[in-house]
Amino acid sequence: MSEPDGQSTTLDNLLSESRTFPPSEAFAAQANATSELYDEANADREAFWAAQARRLHWDTEWDQVLDWSNAPFAKWFVGGKLNVAYNCVDRHVEAGHGDRVAIHWEGEPGDSRTITYAELQREVSRTANALASLGVGSGDRVAIYLPMLPEAVYAMLACARLGALHSVVFGGFSSEALRTRINDAAAKVVITCDGQYRRGKAMPLKANVDEAVAGTPSVEHVLVVKRTGTETDWNPARDQWWDDVVEGQPDTHTPEAFDAEHPLFILYTSGTTGRPKGILHTSGGYLTQAAYTHHTVFDLKPESDVYWCTADIGWVTGHTYIVYGPLANGATQVIYEGTPNAPHEGRHWEIVQKYGVTLYYTAPTTIRTFMKWGADIPARYDLSSLRLLGSVGEPINPEAWIWYREHIGGNRAPIVDTWWQTETGAIMISPLPGHTHTKPGSAQRPLPGISAKVVDETGTPVAHGSGGLLVLDQPWPSMLRGIWGDDERYRETYWSKFADKGFYFAGDGAKYDNDGDIWLLGRVDDVMNVSGHRISTTEVESALVSHPTVAEAAVVGASDPTTGQAIVAFVILRGTADDAASGEAAIKALRDHVAHEIGPIAKPRQIMVVPELPKTRSGKIMRRLLRDVAENREIGDVSTLADSSVMNLISAGLGKSS
Ligand code: WT7
Repeated sequence: MSEPDGQSTTLDNLLSESRTFPPSEAFAAQANATSELYDEANADREAFWAAQARRLHWDTEWDQVLDWSNAPFAKWFVGGKLNVAYNCVDRHVEAGHGDRVAIHWEGEPGDSRTITYAELQREVSRTANALASLGVGSGDRVAIYLPMLPEAVYAMLACARLGALHSVVFGGFSSEALRTRINDAAAKVVITCDGQYRRGKAMPLKANVDEAVAGTPSVEHVLVVKRTGTETDWNPARDQWWDDVVEGQPDTHTPEAFDAEHPLFILYTSGTTGRPKGILHTSGGYLTQAAYTHHTVFDLKPESDVYWCTADIGWVTGHTYIVYGPLANGATQVIYEGTPNAPHEGRHWEIVQKYGVTLYYTAPTTIRTFMKWGADIPARYDLSSLRLLGSVGEPINPEAWIWYREHIGGNRAPIVDTWWQTETGAIMISPLPGHTHTKPGSAQRPLPGISAKVVDETGTPVAHGSGGLLVLDQPWPSMLRGIWGDDERYRETYWSKFADKGFYFAGDGAKYDNDGDIWLLGRVDDVMNVSGHRISTTEVESALVSHPTVAEAAVVGASDPTTGQAIVAFVILRGTADDAASGEAAIKALRDHVAHEIGPIAKPRQIMVVPELPKTRSGKIMRRLLRDVAENREIGDVSTLADSSVMNLISAGLGKSS
C-alpha cells in the first residue's frame, strides 16, 4: 500500500456541501422501502436476510442462514438449493408473465429486438442445450468476450442453468488480457462475436480471440455470434458459429437445483499487483442481495417500470444490475449496444423517450460527459418518464449530481449514489429512495442488513466530521467467496489489515459528516479509478517496462475533470535510447503498447520522460510526489527521498514531456 494520499484535494471540497433533498411526498407514498426496513434488519440481521432470500424460488430451503465459522470464507443459506437461471427466467413465465418484455435491446446502428420472458426462456434453454452438447457441465468455466448483445445475457444464464461458471471479459480488453484470464480459470469454451460496433464503425473482435487462444491449452471450442459480418479467420477444428450450434437445439431444458454455495461466476478485477484477481461469487446469497437491492434501491415496480443500466456486462454492474438483479425481479429493461454519442450526443435521451425509461443508472464520468456536451441536448427530448436516477463507480462531485438532478431528473427524480465493488457483489451503501434526504456527493448510509464503518488505522470508528478507512464489519450474502485459485491472496488482500477485528477492508478512504453520513473519498491503495474502471498502477507499469525502450516506469492516477482520474506515466528510457525515443512518435508507440497489453482503457493520458524517479531509501516509488507533478501542484515534502534533488531533475526535464 502506498502513502494514504490517494484522496484528491477536490474531493475535500465535497465536504462543504450541505444541501439536502427530501423525497417528494408522492414518491415516498409509493416507495418499496421505508425506514422500517432498518428496524427489521437491526432487530435480527439473519432473520432479515432469510426474509430477503424468500424473494427467490428455492427447491430446498436452507437449514442455516449464515455459517461464518470458517471466516473469512462465508456460507450463506447452508443446505439450500436453487437454480439461478430458473429464478431469473422460468418462474416469471410460470407466474403468467411470459408476455412481459424482459429486454428492449437497442443496437448501435439503430436495429432493435424485443425479447419477452417467454422468448428469453426459449433462448436460454436452447443455449444451455448447445453448451451441454459441447461438453459444458457443472463446475466448468466458460469465457464470454462479447459486446452488449442479447446473446451475452443468454450465454450467462445458460451457464448458470448448467451450473457452469462464466468469466465475462470486457470486450475492450486486449487479447493478452483475455489470454491471462482464460488461462487463470482454465476455460473450456470461449463465446465471442465476429465484430462489434463502436461509434458507427464495425471493429473486429474474433481476431483478438484467435490471438488469445493460440496460448490457451484449456480451450476446446470457440462459439462465434455473427454481429457485424466482419471477415474472420476460421479454425474448423475449434470454431463454430453460434447459430449453427444453438438454432437447432430444443427450446426446453430442465434446470437442476444447485447448492446455495455453488459457484456462479468469476469476474476479474485489478488489484494492487500486476496480476488481476478472479473474484468468485456463488449462487444463493449473491442472487438474494442482487434481487433485494435492485428492488429496494431502484424502487422497482416490475409491472410498470422500464429500467436501464448503462453499464457493460464486462463489469460487475452489468452482472448484478443488468443480468441477475433485474431479471430475478421480473423487470423490463433496456440494453443498449453502443456509445452515448453514436450517432449523436442525444442517443441516451432518444432511447429514454422511445421506451419511456423510468429508472436510469449510470456512472459519474458519463454524467460529466453529458455536462460537457451541454444541457440543451437532453432538453430536446421528453424525459418526463424518469422517476429515479442512480450513480455508481466513483464518488460523484456535487456539480455533476446537481446537473443530473436538474437536467435529467427534472428536479423531481430522487438520485441514489450507490457504493459497492466487484467484491461486494451488490450495493452496500446508498440512500433509500422515498426515505433518505439525499445529499449531493454522499452515498450516505449502509443499506438495511449491511454494516459498514469508517475507522482509523487501529480499527476504531472515527468521530463524526472525521475521515478514515471504510470497512465492512459484518459478512453479507453477496460477498465474494474468495479469489479463484488463491485463498492466501484473498486473506491477505481483504482481511489482513484489520485481522484482529475481522473487518473486510475495502481499499477506500471515507469520512463521516456531522450527521454521520458516509462520504467516499476514493482509493487509498495503488488502484486508479478511470471512468469508473479499476486499473492498477502496477499493471500499467508492467506493461510499460515490457516495451524495449523503457527502463523503468511509475504510474499515478491524476484527477481529471471528465474521467475522475487519468493515467499519467513517468518513464525512464533505456541508456541506448537516443533523444528520438522521447519524441512524440515514441510516446505514441508506448501508449499503443499499453493498449495492446491491457486494452484501450489503460492508455495513459500522458507519458513524461524523466531522468530519475523519486524513491524512498527502501526503494519505494513515492507516487505522491509524482501526483503533485501530474496535477501541476507545488511539490510536497521530499524529506523521505533517498535523493532529494530528484524532484528538481524531474521538474527541470519536463520540457521533453508530452
Ligand atoms: C471501487 C470498486 C461497483 C460497481 C462499479 C465499480 C469505487 C464505486 C462508488 C460510489 C464512490 C465508488 C470505489 C470502489 N466506487 N462506487 N458510489 N462512490 N466510489 O466496481 O470496479 O469493483 O470498483 O469503485 O473506489 O472501491 P469496481
